[in-house]
Amino acid sequence: MTLDSVPYIGQYSKHTPDLFVATGFNKWGMTSSMVAAQILCDLVLEKKNDFAEVFSPSRSILKPQVFVNLGETLKTFVTPTVPRCPHLGCALKWNKQEHSWDCPCHGSRFEKDGKLIDNPAMEDANV
Ligand code: FES
Repeated sequence: MTLDSVPYIGQYSKHTPDLFVATGFNKWGMTSSMVAAQILCDLVLEKKNDFAEVFSPSRSILKPQVFVNLGETLKTFVTPTVPRCPHLGCALKWNKQEHSWDCPCHGSRFEKDGKLIDNPAMEDANV
């Protein structure tokens, strides 16, 4: 996962003009890889791509949403009463639409009673 949750796709750095990267898909590789293929293809062919700047590994992450996410993450670590994800301990959030406990950190999901639905957690949560 990247700091702003947007994949890194593009030139690795301005000092490595022939080195490209595509990573940080966060379980969205099937769709993001298609975006990566188009962006990298355009970069190699030196064609303009409207999305290249959004995914650029050199982009600035100093955007307001980063601070909102950081504050929310810190808040979850100091709130002792919420259910915790057994993966790395992030606070689980109740998903009203799916009726599941979802982990905002790496995407693990649990049923109402804490039974594991989706990894990377490998065990049920105590909810
Ligand atoms: S801490 Fe929950 S999935 Fe990693």
